[in-house]
This record gives sequence, C-alpha cells and structure tokens, in this order.
Amino acid sequence: MRVLGIESSCDETAASVVVDGRIIESNIILSQVLLHREYGGVVPEIASRQHIKAIIPVIDQALECCGGIDAIDVIAVTNGPGLVGSLLVGVQAAKALSFVTGKKLVAVNHLEAHLRAPFCGFPDAPPPDVVYPHISLLVSGGHTILFHVTEEKRFVLGATRDDAAGEAFDKAAKMLGLGYPGGKVIDELADNGNPTRFILPRGLRKRGEYDFSFSGLKTALMNMISKEEEIDSVALGDICSSFRESVVDSLIEKTEKAILEHKVKGLSIAGGVAANSLLRKRGAELAEKHGVKYFIPPKILCTDNAAMVASAGYDLAVRKQWALPTLNAFASSQWTKRGELTGTGGR
Ligand code: KG4
Ligand code: ZN
Repeated sequence: MRVLGIESSCDETAASVVVDGRIIESNIILSQVLLHREYGGVVPEIASRQHIKAIIPVIDQALECCGGIDAIDVIAVTNGPGLVGSLLVGVQAAKALSFVTGKKLVAVNHLEAHLRAPFCGFPDAPPPDVVYPHISLLVSGGHTILFHVTEEKRFVLGATRDDAAGEAFDKAAKMLGLGYPGGKVIDELADNGNPTRFILPRGLRKRGEYDFSFSGLKTALMNMISKEEEIDSVALGDICSSFRESVVDSLIEKTEKAILEHKVKGLSIAGGVAANSLLRKRGAELAEKHGVKYFIPPKILCTDNAAMVASAGYDLAVRKQWALPTLNAFASSQWTKRGELTGTGGR
C-alpha cells in the first residue's frame, strides 16, 4: 500500500510517499525557519500563510517519485497537536485531494507519527525489525514523554511537568542570544565545550518516578549567565556543553530506570531532540549496556517530516479507520496522562 503523507503542524511544510508503512520513496520538507528567526520563535499567522503557499508544490514534488497521485492508495494528514491555523492548511489540502480523487483519507496524531520514525527505512536502507516490548522516548519541541510499548498497547510512564526538552534548548538559546531554533546551535557549540566547567541541576532526579522537569535548569542557566561578566567564545561553548549535559543526563537517567524496571528488548528515541548528538551517543551506550536493540531515526526523520505521518497513516488504513469529510484540527494532546494509550489516532 502506497500512502501520501502530509504534515503542516508547525513551521515545516512536508509531504512524503511511503510504501507499506515503512519504505520511504520521497520525503520533501520545506522549512520556514528563516521566516520566523527574526521574531525569535514561530509566528502562527506567518506560518499558516507560508503553508498555503508551499503545500501544493511540496505535495507535487513528493508525488514525482511514483508518477503522480494515481499511484497513491491512501492520503494521511496530521490533524494535531500543533498550531491550528497551520494544521488546517494540511487538513484542507488532504481533504480536497481525497474528495477530487476518491482516495481514502486518514488523520494522524503528530506524536504518533514521531514514534514511527525510528522504524522507517529507504529502498536502499531497509527498516529495522521492531522488537517488543520496548521503551520509547519522545523528545520534541512541544513534548517529552516516556512510553512502555508492548505489541498491543502503549503506556505513558512519565512526561515533563513543565518545559519540553526541545523547548528548554530553544529558551536557553534565546537567553544566550543564539537565535531560533536553538537545539541544533547549542548542540554544535557544545561539541567544543567543557561539560564540567559549570554544574547545572538535573530536574526531578530522585523524585517524580518517570517525570521530567526542565524549568529549574532554565532558571539556573539564567542566574549563571547574569553572574558571568563577559561570555567569550570559550565560556559560551562551556555553557552550551554543561546545558546539553544536564538535559541529556535527565533524559537518560529516567530512560535507564524504565529499561531496568520493565525488562524490555528495545529502546527507541524520536522527535526533534533525537537529532542531538550527545543524546544519540548516550542512547546507543545505554542500549549496549543493557543488551537491548537501539532504534533512532536518521536526523532528517527526527525533526518534523511527512514520512512519519504516512507511516502512522498506514496502520490506520490497514484498520480502515478512515477520516470523515468533517475532519478538523486540534491544538493540544491528552497524551501526557499516565496510563494506557489505545494505539494510533485520536487526541
Ligand atoms: O519534533 P520537532 O521538529 O517539532 C515538534 O514537534 O516540536 O522538534 C523541534 C525541536 C526544537 O525545539 C529544536 O530546538 C529541537 O527539536 N532540536 C534539537 C536539535 N535539533 C532540533 N535539540 C537539541 N539538539 C539538536 N541537535
Ligand atoms: Zn514534531
């Protein structure tokens, strides 16, 4: 089954063609980052307008790999969580395409989509075999959630109580005058820094079971910056390195606790922050230490893309969970509630 995925939840307009939920034939991503940079963050109105301009050319380009829409079996679109104005552009484009072609439509939860990315591959780099049960760490700009995943169900073990990991990186970058989005820049500067020069806190280290907290770290960083008389390039590298160390330590500690307590066979990491080089390395070391299989997407599939949407959409299509023409977009998700989650789709 060949699925066309469409993604427009934030500041990337993306479309992709994926076969049988796992083989990516095309993956087109148009980032709006330069448009938002001067405002220090995503401006919703600008984002929606840019999605309107980009959506049709991006879909057309994604469809070139298979010769056009006739080769598509199902259309999958992200309908939340995200910026409602942005989401509606993708949703309306998908609905219109479904209506004129008669192709079935499925609605994909953006978080569900991120969780699929580690299990996708390309025609020349086949996807890995999934193992169950596994622990899945979702770290994006808006969410930080730890899951226990069995073949039938997915359980939310914990989530952030305040900022998401990506949000923490973005806010830290703003404080340091490094622009938006900040995760990648901090990651690069951190590579040349000393992570032990400044000691920053690790939120909820001994408490909160599987929950995370990054707001104390943000305050500690702000206090530290205000005490430094001058931040030269060496100090900047050291601050970035110390900050990255603290975020990654928190993520890895709780993930290790989950691996040990749930006796799983695998670890997967997904979402924009999964592109972080230290997190990728520490995740690999953790998986090796506990003898579990490691799943992490290539960087291009960590941040927002539509291949992950098509992949999640495939499962919905197999179960014939079609979206109706009345499909709407939603802004926030209820996924951070602890306990069982009943699989794909929904809020
Ligand atoms: O998953 P994503 O593209 O969008 C959401 O669904 O939120 O994640 C974007 C987030 C941003 O906060 C960005 O700063 C962060 O991912 N990010 C990184 C890195 N690359 C992107 N954070 C840390 N290190 C990176 N290399
Ligand atoms: Zn995302």
